[in-house]
Amino acid sequence: MSETPEDIFTEQDNIDVNTLANLGPLTALAGVWEGTKGLDVNPDAGAPRRQVFVEHIDLQPIDPQSNGPQLLYGLRYHTRSTKPGETETYHDQVGYWLWEPATGQIIHTLTMPRGQTVLATGQATADARRFEVSAVRGSTMNGISSAPFLEDAFRTDALTMAVTLHDDDSWSYFEDTVLQVRGRPEPFHHTDRNTLVRIAAPTPNPLARASGDVG
Ligand code: HEM
Repeated sequence: MSETPEDIFTEQDNIDVNTLANLGPLTALAGVWEGTKGLDVNPDAGAPRRQVFVEHIDLQPIDPQSNGPQLLYGLRYHTRSTKPGETETYHDQVGYWLWEPATGQIIHTLTMPRGQTVLATGQATADARRFEVSAVRGSTMNGISSAPFLEDAFRTDALTMAVTLHDDDSWSYFEDTVLQVRGRPEPFHHTDRNTLVRIAAPTPNPLARASGDVG
C-alpha cells in the first residue's frame, strides 16, 4: 500500500492525457473482446453445476483521474455473459480497472445487478504478464458489499481474480468467488474462467482525442 503524501490536495503537473500510453499491465486489456470458452462452476440446490458461457467485454480508456496528487489511469468496462446460442444475460457486470503508475497499484471495481459491489486491489509491475486482485468481506479498503438477500442467502466472503496476458493479443482470467451458502457447512468456490479474443481496438479517451495526439 502506498504512503499518503503530506500534501493531499496538489495535483501532479504535466499529466499525459493519453490513457492508452499509461495503463501499465492493463494496456493489453483495452478494446472489445469475446470469449467463447468460458466455464462457470455455480452453487445449485444439489451438487455444484458447471456451465459453459459466452462472454462479451467492452473495456474503454477513460480520462486520467486525480485524487489530489494521486494519479490513476483506467478502463471502464461492461461484461455480458450468456449461455451458448442464447440471448438472456445471466451475468452482467460494470466497473473500472485502474492503474496507479507511481505505486503499481491495480484497482478493480465490480458492480453486479444481483445487488453487489466489490472493490478488489492488487500490485504489479508495468510490464507484468500476470496480475491478481482480491477483495474480502469486512475490509474498508478492498471490500465486498451485498444487498440483504445475497448477504443472507449467498454471503460473499472473498473474491480473487487472476489475469494472464498472452502473446497472441488474447488474455485469460480465473475468478474465485467464495460464497457462504445459507445452511451449508463449507464455503462454496463459485469459479469462472475464460479466454478473451480481440474483436475491436479501443477508442482513445476523450481528452486524448481532443488533444489531437491520437486519431
Ligand atoms: C463475482 C461475483 C458473483 C457472485 C456474487 C455470484 C453469485 C451467484 C449466486 C448467488 C448464484 C446462485 C443463485 C442463482 O442461480 O442465481 C450464481 C449462479 C450463477 N452464476 Fe454467479 N456470481 C458471481 C459471478 C459470476 C460470474 C463472473 C459468472 C460468469 C460469467 C457467473 C455465472 C453464474 C451462473 C451461470 C450461475 C447459474 C445461474 C443460472 O444457470 O441461471 N457468476 N452466482
